[in-house]
Amino acid sequence: MEEKQVKETRIVLVPVPAQGHVTPMMQLGKALHSKGFSITVVLTQSNRVSSSKDFSDFHFLTIPGSLTESDLQNLGPQKFVLKLNQICEASFKQCIGQLLHEQCNNDIACVVYDEYMYFSHAAVKEFQLPSVVFSTTSATAFVCRSVLSRVNAESFLIDMKDPKVSDKEFPGLHPLRYKDLPTSAFGPLESILKVYSETVNIRTASAVIINSTSCLESSSLAWLQKQLQVPVYPIGPLHIAASAPSSLLEEDRSCLEWLNKQKIGSVIYISLGSLALMETKDMLEMAWGLRNSNQPFLWVIRPGSIPGSEWTESLPEEFSRLVSERGYIVKWAPQIEVLRHPAVGGFWSHCGWNSTLESIGEGVPMICRPFTGDQKVNARYLERVWRIGVQLEGELDKGTVERAVERLIMDEEGAEMRKRVINLKEKLEASVKSRGSSFSSLDNFVNSLTMMNFM
Ligand code: UDX
Repeated sequence: MEEKQVKETRIVLVPVPAQGHVTPMMQLGKALHSKGFSITVVLTQSNRVSSSKDFSDFHFLTIPGSLTESDLQNLGPQKFVLKLNQICEASFKQCIGQLLHEQCNNDIACVVYDEYMYFSHAAVKEFQLPSVVFSTTSATAFVCRSVLSRVNAESFLIDMKDPKVSDKEFPGLHPLRYKDLPTSAFGPLESILKVYSETVNIRTASAVIINSTSCLESSSLAWLQKQLQVPVYPIGPLHIAASAPSSLLEEDRSCLEWLNKQKIGSVIYISLGSLALMETKDMLEMAWGLRNSNQPFLWVIRPGSIPGSEWTESLPEEFSRLVSERGYIVKWAPQIEVLRHPAVGGFWSHCGWNSTLESIGEGVPMICRPFTGDQKVNARYLERVWRIGVQLEGELDKGTVERAVERLIMDEEGAEMRKRVINLKEKLEASVKSRGSSFSSLDNFVNSLTMMNFM
């Protein structure tokens, strides 16, 4: 009997090869796979994530001649993105051409590319494939990038340098101030504005997917829906909708045992994500402040996050003494499990969007110390819009650190924040359940793919 060939519908995903982008893209892959799609993930030359058993059904491709993880460390995120987009256009076309040739039995329903992987556009145009932009940051950060991509760089730079202006609210972006806008610590303003004008230019993409939800950012989502003129699908938080462990660093699980020995709600968990750097001086002020607050703390110090040091070896003896009195240090933690642990009472964070969603998702209030980019937007929202965080601004000193910990863990103010964040946690969970807004949004997106492929 003649064997019937099964026709698959494939979605090609193109993540930025950095933790904060790979994680939500892989979660999106899981969500789409659960809807019956075959998934191909196109990576640059760092594909450790593919070895995980969670992705055994996924197909992985590597763009030849692309950049490696050490290029990201050496160039810094801003130059890395610019260079990646310059060098990957032709080789990505080749990849897609080969995929179409080899997978002649499969339809490619669409190419979903990270907003920062805009080189993907050339290939989708050439092969006339439907494409979708995926934003791994908040909807509000997307709005800010759109607004910034239209400002005059010169006069904006002058405004930013004037302390009177930088403290003022930016017109139309309440409650964000000039200084909360996602400018970058990694390079000159002109260059980040250039990157932004590329990321917000969705070109011929048929839709935009955002890892957010209407209960967190309804007005920013409405703004985007109006401006972008293609459907915007808020389908997050993806880590709740479709868990997909994709840590690029090895997690040290011993911290969970250490947490088991701490009192309920007493521990401050500190992590600054995968890119932020920290000066020794600030680390010492933090260590003093935490020690004086008398609260235990679990501190993730990522190798390479202290300039000029491989790990903690350049820190003075005083630091180790202060930490050993009440703290525990790891190089990388199983963050969601840590946040879920009953001993954790607060999260000191750089406010990356994934960390923000994960903290809200576990009902943990935050101490916000943003480092760069969209983290500043998130920190302002955490403090002023959702009112579930204390932002530390300006120079760090041990007194302010101690006070922030007290406000969060001991004071009535912290108890109120906890109530609000637990309330938000429940809303996030409801949004990804059947009939929730993000759940429906994902369904609508999947239905729209059928339409796109008939066009
Ligand atoms: C950066 C930006 O800060 C972020 O806003 C943007 O959306 C993506 O790029 P990053 O600095 O890595 O991301 O922060 P974040 O978005 O918070 O992502 C970090 C991820 O690493 C989180 O999913 C977190 O759970 C994970 N993590 C962090 C660990 O698994 N273990 C750790 O010890 C620390």
